[in-house]
Amino acid sequence: MITCTDVVRNFATRPGAVAGLAGLSLDVAPGEFVVIQGPSGSGKSTLLLTLGGMLRPTSGRVTVAGQDLHSLTTSARTRFRATTLGFVFQLFHLVPYLTVRQNILAGLPRPDASGRARVAGLINELGLEERAGSLPGTLSAGERQRVALARALAKQPPLILADEPTGNLDPANAAGVFRRLDTYRRAGGTVLVVTHGPDAAPFASRVLRLEAGRITDVRSTAQVAL
Ligand SMILES: Nc1ncnc2c1ncn2[C@@H]1O[C@H](COP(=O)(O)OP(=O)(O)O)[C@@H](O)[C@H]1O
Ligand SMILES: [Mg+2]
Repeated sequence: MITCTDVVRNFATRPGAVAGLAGLSLDVAPGEFVVIQGPSGSGKSTLLLTLGGMLRPTSGRVTVAGQDLHSLTTSARTRFRATTLGFVFQLFHLVPYLTVRQNILAGLPRPDASGRARVAGLINELGLEERAGSLPGTLSAGERQRVALARALAKQPPLILADEPTGNLDPANAAGVFRRLDTYRRAGGTVLVVTHGPDAAPFASRVLRLEAGRITDVRSTAQVAL
């Protein structure tokens, strides 16, 4: 589902080039729930943005769902992202002037009848019925994170990428997010979570360590039967 080979991503800054990714190689098979743990500044967000086609690697190859992402045209890459990837962000990134329902619908490449039915189902499943017509600014952090999760799930993508998805949640809400991602994985999805904390590890089929832009350690394997 994901193949990164010797991926380098440098950032030009005033003092000189900073390495976001420093020769990172990674393989994620369909149906895995991979957690990458790394401290702040280790390259977690750079990795996810690169996998999402939002950031072009300085060198190296990135293949996601069989596509060499960075060889696609900009519009093909946008289409690819709309249909293939679900993103869950630490800071939710909800559209502040759209309601909960509209934010979740915005996750669909096309809001057709089956997509709308799926969104209605997700709103119920995630306990957001009472809040469906509310604006994100009026929600608790846990509710906002459930909306962000529903938006990623709505398109039924083959891959979900999550950047510290529970960084702003209490442990009960955090476990709820990971349980729902695990349900999605069991239904055939693939999950990659990057995080600095340990919360996601119990749900992982594999835990990797990221330091200074490189995978440095495979902590454990096959905790969860695939
Ligand atoms: N746009 C940017 N410009 C300059 N340096 C950046 C930029 N984005 C990330 N970096 C640097 O790349 C490294 C990795 O950052 P990041 O991927 O955000 O780490 P993490 O998400 O693990 O905290 C850090 O040293 C950071 O300062
Ligand atoms: Mg980050």
